[in-house]
Amino acid sequence: MISLPTPMEKAENLSKELGINLFVKRDDVMELALGGNKVRKLEFLIGDALAKKCDTVITRGAFHSNHARLTAAAARKAGLDVYLVLTPPGTFDLQGNILLNELLGAKMILAKDREEAIKRMEEIAEKLRREGRNPYIIPGGGASPVGVMGYALAAKEILEQLQEQGVKPDYIVLATGSGGTQAGLVLGLKLLGADDVKVVGISISPDKKEGQKRVSSLVNQAAKLLDVNIHVEPEEIIVIDDYLGGGYGAINKEVVETIKYVARREALILDPVYTAKAMQGLIDLARKNYFGKNSNVVFIHTGGTPILFQADELKDYLSS
Ligand SMILES: Cc1ncc(COP(=O)(O)O)c(C=O)c1O
Repeated sequence: MISLPTPMEKAENLSKELGINLFVKRDDVMELALGGNKVRKLEFLIGDALAKKCDTVITRGAFHSNHARLTAAAARKAGLDVYLVLTPPGTFDLQGNILLNELLGAKMILAKDREEAIKRMEEIAEKLRREGRNPYIIPGGGASPVGVMGYALAAKEILEQLQEQGVKPDYIVLATGSGGTQAGLVLGLKLLGADDVKVVGISISPDKKEGQKRVSSLVNQAAKLLDVNIHVEPEEIIVIDDYLGGGYGAINKEVVETIKYVARREALILDPVYTAKAMQGLIDLARKNYFGKNSNVVFIHTGGTPILFQADELKDYLSS
């Protein structure tokens, strides 16, 4: 589902303006259905589903969920049936990820919130089992110890790509939600003996404490699965919750300004729910000299581009 490595691009114009060496790991560039971070998790999750001889995948997410769209795509590619339980926020119009889910032939079921969605997933699985089918439930965001493996491997890929250019990263910055991506990077760097590289999760939904808890718990569960002696405490995980901008999925002027700022300097297209908020954090932190002058900073472009074509609120802030 992915040809690796994904590109690593030096953002020359932003580097000059921000006084850091900024590299962008282009995990938005992948073959599978417009790509994104969830594909690396799904490589392992769909592999696990196939190993368990499952015939149907069930997952949940917000209306604009990239995880839901990519689960549908990965399931189809593997010849599996797929159910998506979708909840607000976002809009349920045939645009963006919803349109792609429809094209992929995913069965979309609506629920009012996370709790109801979890219940609905179980009910669907139970019904399928009664019909003699073998369903596989993927938790929201693909946040499971199996899914974490994708980004543990990506940590190695990132270090190797930069090493070829004679660069050692000081920081890796990314959008953190369910926590699996950051957990994979933290675990991978520890396994490689490179945990002097700091992984900075800019939260797009949980507060700092909850984010640290989610990430550390996934690191520890995945370490257990690998049978390696690694343990992290929540306080060791860097999660910054200053850029939530009104909460998960809320679009505001700063987010749209960030999208325009980056597009006009690097022709790099960010999405309003995840990558723009993470980049807004990176830019602000760089201006406050959080990273230190001329430090090597990697921003992971985790994807999400279809949301640009799904978020009508975006247009309200497009005056210039
Ligand atoms: C584009 C994008 N970036 C970042 C994230 C956050 O990743 P994680 O849930 O692994 O923290 C997501 C999750 O939905 C995403 O779709």
